Amino acid sequence: MATAYDNATRTSDLEHEGIVPVIAVENVYKSFASHKVLNGINLRVNRGETLAVLGRSGTGKSVLLRLIIRLETLDSGSVCIHGQDIAGLPLDHMGKVRMKMGFLFQHAALYDSLTVAENIAFPLEHHRRDISRSERMDRVRQLLAEVGMEGDLNKMPSDISGGMQKRVGLARALALEPEILLLDEPTAGLDPISSGEIDNLILKLQRERKMASVVVTHDLHSARTIANHLALLDQGKVVIEGKFEKLQQSDIEFVKEFLK
Ligand SMILES: Nc1ncnc2c1ncn2[C@@H]1O[C@H](COP(=O)(O)OP(=O)(O)OP(=O)(O)O)[C@@H](O)[C@H]1O
Ligand SMILES: [Mg+2]
Repeated sequence: MATAYDNATRTSDLEHEGIVPVIAVENVYKSFASHKVLNGINLRVNRGETLAVLGRSGTGKSVLLRLIIRLETLDSGSVCIHGQDIAGLPLDHMGKVRMKMGFLFQHAALYDSLTVAENIAFPLEHHRRDISRSERMDRVRQLLAEVGMEGDLNKMPSDISGGMQKRVGLARALALEPEILLLDEPTAGLDPISSGEIDNLILKLQRERKMASVVVTHDLHSARTIANHLALLDQGKVVIEGKFEKLQQSDIEFVKEFLK
């Protein structure tokens, strides 16, 4: 099976050429009251790359994604998007940066009272006032076709399976043609076949759109399939980062335990 390795340029090659990463997380610390969650995280993602973030429950994976989109504020360190530190950006400017980001929340978070089509149209209605209603509906159909759900336009979220809900969430995350895709547990709670379908879909989208993606997952098989590089978090730090083979060859006890 094809993997993300086939397509992306290696981080080190790009750094060599002096290319600024799309996402750069530098020495990030984050606590909630006395609870230290992130203790100096460094990560970089270039265009066309997918980084999988792994780690046990409660290690701060979702917090990390929320920091990248600035839904949380960090204590110290920086998150740079295309070389720009987002911490000090005025809200309207941050809004523009966020429009470049597609986000799939951990708990699917479709709007229950809206149809599949309305869910996908939502970001377009709010951020693309320049496009007409019929253009918007064309775009919604296109996006649904991209995730293989063109026939389900008028269904309600409660009438479709978990895997289909994730697909709709993905389509919605793609609506504004993001340069950055942030996916929090896109295959959680799915059976292996549906998970595999979502993985293939993420790979296909990545190949076509060359986004910089961060995927948080518990699923090692999925991480291996979709990501160019993986980062394993523990106690607020990146224990190891690199290709799957590097993790496999590691002598670090925590890594060996995690891969079991
Ligand atoms: N807004 C918040 N206020 C206080 N504590 C928080 C807040 N958000 C997250 N935390 C705490 O930070 C820690 C990390 O949470 P996070 O949701 O990032 O974990 P996670 O790695 O995504 O876990 P899971 O794999 O279960 O989704 C947890 O202990 C959580 O309780
Ligand atoms: Mg989480």
